[in-house]
Amino acid sequence: MRFKTTAELKIPADPLEQVIGQKHAVEIADIAAKQRRNLLLVGPPGIGKSMIAQAMSHRLPQTTQEISVLHNPETPERPIVELRNKSDLAKEKKESAQAQGKLVSPTEVPSFVAERLGFRCRRCNKLSKAAERSCPSCGWDKYNASFGNTLLAEYLQDAKPQSRVHTTRLLENGHEEVIVYERKAEMIRVLDQKALEKMDDAKKKKPRKVIVSFGRKPFVIATGASETELLGDVRHDPYGGHAGVGVQPYLRVVPGSVHEAHEGVLFIDELSSLGYVQRYLLTAMQEKKYPILGRNPHSAGASVKVEDVPCDFIMVAASNINELNNILPPLRSRIVGNGYEVLLDPTMPDTEENRLQLEQFVAQEIVKDRKIPHATSEAVGVLLEEARKRAKRIDDEDNALTLRLRELSGIIRLAGDLAVSQKSGNITEENIREAIRRGRNIEEQMTEKYGSVWKASATDFRAHMEKRSEKDAREIG
Ligand SMILES: Nc1ncnc2c1ncn2[C@@H]1O[C@H](COP(=O)(O)OP(=O)(O)O)[C@@H](O)[C@H]1O
Ligand SMILES: [Mg+2]
Repeated sequence: MRFKTTAELKIPADPLEQVIGQKHAVEIADIAAKQRRNLLLVGPPGIGKSMIAQAMSHRLPQTTQEISVLHNPETPERPIVELRNKSDLAKEKKESAQAQGKLVSPTEVPSFVAERLGFRCRRCNKLSKAAERSCPSCGWDKYNASFGNTLLAEYLQDAKPQSRVHTTRLLENGHEEVIVYERKAEMIRVLDQKALEKMDDAKKKKPRKVIVSFGRKPFVIATGASETELLGDVRHDPYGGHAGVGVQPYLRVVPGSVHEAHEGVLFIDELSSLGYVQRYLLTAMQEKKYPILGRNPHSAGASVKVEDVPCDFIMVAASNINELNNILPPLRSRIVGNGYEVLLDPTMPDTEENRLQLEQFVAQEIVKDRKIPHATSEAVGVLLEEARKRAKRIDDEDNALTLRLRELSGIIRLAGDLAVSQKSGNITEENIREAIRRGRNIEEQMTEKYGSVWKASATDFRAHMEKRSEKDAREIG
């Protein structure tokens, strides 16, 4: 044996390399991620379709755009969409920092400014805290500019220092510029002309709501999504967005999954279960943008619409073989037109290499679960035998290993729980055997107990009838 327990086995860090079997699908998924193509994964449940879709999103570069809706003062029901990238955001940050001006200490401003802002004593010229009215060195009333004129002193009794001083300064090129000093607690904020202009610009900016942010995950699941979930909505406001009491329309805009998946993967499990909504999905894929509007005609949101909200996603969809016919044909041709359809394998040949893969799978599942101990190599051996039996029993493949791994993963977890309750330290052969026994479905359990499913139900029916005739007899008697 190559190992004592699965703790020694290496697990690849890349989620796509954690997919066991499905070589073809993994290759295609890799290309699809690189080239931004759509993908339809077809096959029975529990063989890795969701896993591949999620793994694909890990291969995508970081998202570069953020989507916001801006308040539209002229027509609030038509908020404006805006795209920003990282450098736009950095630039805006810098500008808003510039609009903040510079904080300096009272020693760094002209003395008349320090005087008027309440820092400097007019008599002894010493600096002290602006909050202290009388100068700590000479006792003079710093706020009072009367200089011994008693009449004026009376008049200025309630004097306060100024909080802002406007003045001008001469630049090196001979021009004059406006400069403003503002008291900020015990510091002074200096706003030069540039800062004042930036402040003005900031005031003119339209208020915004970020609906799809930079920090998002590039993987969005929209399984069985309703129209609203998939395409977004505008929430109701009982005050109809009236200024003052209501909530402005742009603040009520909610993105759909298609928008949240912008630049990422939109994963739709059981594609056919979307029903008629598939049509809208098709449009979104074609246009790469989709308006957000209020979808409830009785709501105040119904009058609001945001045009051209981007939704440039890679669609990865999954389907059972039986459901293929219920996928909208133009949607399928859209996927094939710019992507791939892949049939996944329910089994893989029983080779040395594939056995190693399944060993890796056991280690992966144990590590992912976090609550169960590692398995001995003998325990893995028993599970591999079961994988072989299942390939034969379920898919009628000789010399093969099953890839219906969700079920195997259930066995591993159950065996792990048994190991935990027995405090055995590792998952043992016996734990796996017991888990296989307990994990059988009801039909298999009935077959073991009664000989066949049919006999089980006949036995049950007989017992039921006997009970009933007893009851009838009692009631009549
Ligand atoms: N090919 C696979 N490789 C590794 N693990 C798998 C594979 N298929 C299924 N599993 C395990 O089963 C779980 C469910 O698989 P999932 O990807 O949701 O299957 P599907 O989407 O095909 O129904 C996964 O989280 C993983 O633990
Ligand atoms: Mg799934």
